[in-house]
Amino acid sequence: MKKRYLFLSLFLLASFVQAKTQYVTKTLPTYSTTEDAKASGKILPTTPLEVIKTQDGKAFVKLTGWNKGKMTRILYFSKGERIISAAFSKKAKYEVKVLKTEEVGTKKDQWSNVTITTWIDNKELTDDLNALYSKAANLYEKNCGLCHAKHPTKEFSANQWPAVIKGMIPRTPLSKEEGLLVTQYAQKHAKK
Ligand code: HEC
Repeated sequence: MKKRYLFLSLFLLASFVQAKTQYVTKTLPTYSTTEDAKASGKILPTTPLEVIKTQDGKAFVKLTGWNKGKMTRILYFSKGERIISAAFSKKAKYEVKVLKTEEVGTKKDQWSNVTITTWIDNKELTDDLNALYSKAANLYEKNCGLCHAKHPTKEFSANQWPAVIKGMIPRTPLSKEEGLLVTQYAQKHAKK
């Protein structure tokens, strides 16, 4: 192989490896800098992200999602749906890049497609989204079909599910973390 092709393929391989999408398995704190001990936000389970670099046990990550209006402190998974990917405190430092802005629904709400970069602990990430969804589906099946028949996730919209699940969680032995995972699972398999 000619040297320049070798370099080109190594370069392509490196950029491919770097761009691989990972998914958050458990709610993860975010940090403004690598030195920060105090969390400045959180990323919810099943949220996709890309690791840009790692340093001192932390990872600098890029999340892609949507902001409603000018409110950048909440990153949503999809346009017009209240599926929370990440939430930041008032004091948090993170970078937001707006890719495009669209009007959504009859109220013509402004939603912006953005990327956000922040630091997290370099853990609780997986590239196996299906395994994560299986775990959630299993929790849903075991805990949400005890008293009544299991409601199909397609019965409610992504915006309806959080209130439904919130009212039911106290009746199940699900932990708060498991509840968050089940909520994300139901919202991401909801009626469109
Ligand atoms: C301990 C029993 C019990 C468990 C466990 C339970 N539910 Fe329910 N669920 C009920 C009862 C009773 C109702 C009837 C309405 C009410 O009492 O709120 C209901 C109603 C519902 C409804 C209908 C609400 C509507 O507006 O139509 C949905 C959807 C639902 N549950 C989903 C779930 C989900 C999701 C879970 C798991 C996180 C779950 N349930 C776990 C007892 C339970």
